[in-house]
Amino acid sequence: MVRILILHGPNLNLLGTREPAVYGTLTLGNIDHQLSQRAQQLGVSVDTFQTNHEGELLDRIHAARGNFEGILMNAGAFCHTSIALRDAISAVALPVVEVHLSNTAARETFRHHSYVAEVARGVVAGFGPLSYLLGLDGLVEIIRSQSGPGIEYVR
Ligand code: DQA
Repeated sequence: MVRILILHGPNLNLLGTREPAVYGTLTLGNIDHQLSQRAQQLGVSVDTFQTNHEGELLDRIHAARGNFEGILMNAGAFCHTSIALRDAISAVALPVVEVHLSNTAARETFRHHSYVAEVARGVVAGFGPLSYLLGLDGLVEIIRSQSGPGIEYVR
């Protein structure tokens, strides 16, 4: 079975109460629940992990090699700042899909650049919690089409 690692970066543990006008009112638990339901429909397994610490994100990315086929990641603000995160993704050479709840391109200029996006296979931003589900679909499609003839994306 295809195994996906889902990583949530800093401050995402506060979802539900954190700037609801920007990030909505669903909690991270709600989002993880939706993701595990979608994973079941897709026939893949997911492990989820949230941390506020950059080094822990790096450790999880390193440990993913050999244990997961791909990584779905909302690195939060670290995507705008962390070259180490970019290097870790390049090092493990697993397909990564970056997601953001908000449309970072339509926000402050410091959010316009992402180090993660430079090494990600795809980016989904601006759809709220749906960004994660769309990102999961896309990542699974990337992985499955690597290991055989491409499957068509069917809703
Ligand atoms: C975010 C966007 C980032 O700019 C911000 O720092 C976050 C959340 C998003 O999901 O929209 O923490 O990653």
